[in-house]
Amino acid sequence: MRVSNNMKTTAIIGGSGLSELAGLNVLETQSIDTPYGKPSADLIVGELAGQRLIFLARHGNPHQIAPHNINYRANIWALKSLGAEQIIAVAAVGGITPEMTPARLVIPEQIIDYSYGREQTYFAEASAAVEHIDFSFPYDEALRLALIKCGANLNVYSSGTYGCTQGPRLETAAEITRLERDGCDLVGMTGMPEAALARELKIPYACCAVIANWAAGKTQAEISMAEIMHNLEQGMSDVQRLLQCFFILNKA
Ligand code: HPA
Repeated sequence: MRVSNNMKTTAIIGGSGLSELAGLNVLETQSIDTPYGKPSADLIVGELAGQRLIFLARHGNPHQIAPHNINYRANIWALKSLGAEQIIAVAAVGGITPEMTPARLVIPEQIIDYSYGREQTYFAEASAAVEHIDFSFPYDEALRLALIKCGANLNVYSSGTYGCTQGPRLETAAEITRLERDGCDLVGMTGMPEAALARELKIPYACCAVIANWAAGKTQAEISMAEIMHNLEQGMSDVQRLLQCFFILNKA
């Protein structure tokens, strides 16, 4: 199959439940070192629907790196060094507001960051020129709209505010009440500093969130890993369909 060069080179960051991409024709695997250390896993260069893409498993493959231990700076740097021109970040989340039902996909449009102690900027060195990126709208709107278009038949929700918590534990019910009061619709552990680092390197970035569970306190039941994995399995098959559509539509 001919690999078209018309489209921007897209990178996919796979989250929990997406360590590998179905239908990906793997062309090569690259072990990359960056000034910030090693990324979570080898980067996979492949093609989907005839389009070149780069895939990175955020938690490693197999899944072994907890959200607060991910080397976000190395991950985004490594993707850039292989030529990524836009990033689709797939991420498991908990649902807070009523529309955010388990197994549903959401393309969020805002972020509130509650994480702490993470290496969160490329402008950290004393010698580096300090740059204050504009982050008013953290996700790239064109990329968001392309994902929403592909999700039209998949019951994808087209907005929402993502609250990023530190993890690895899930939240208390009171913490979720606070996040909801703040305006969060979704809660996850990996959205930041990933999105901000992509902006620092000027790479358009959007998130495709998959709802794994109702957030803490939203149901009486304890949140179990079995429930999370079950919903992720369902949601990730929609992600695979959405990505197929994305690469086909953007081929021309
Ligand atoms: N909270 C935070 N992160 C998550 C959750 C959650 O309930 N579910 C999946 N990732």
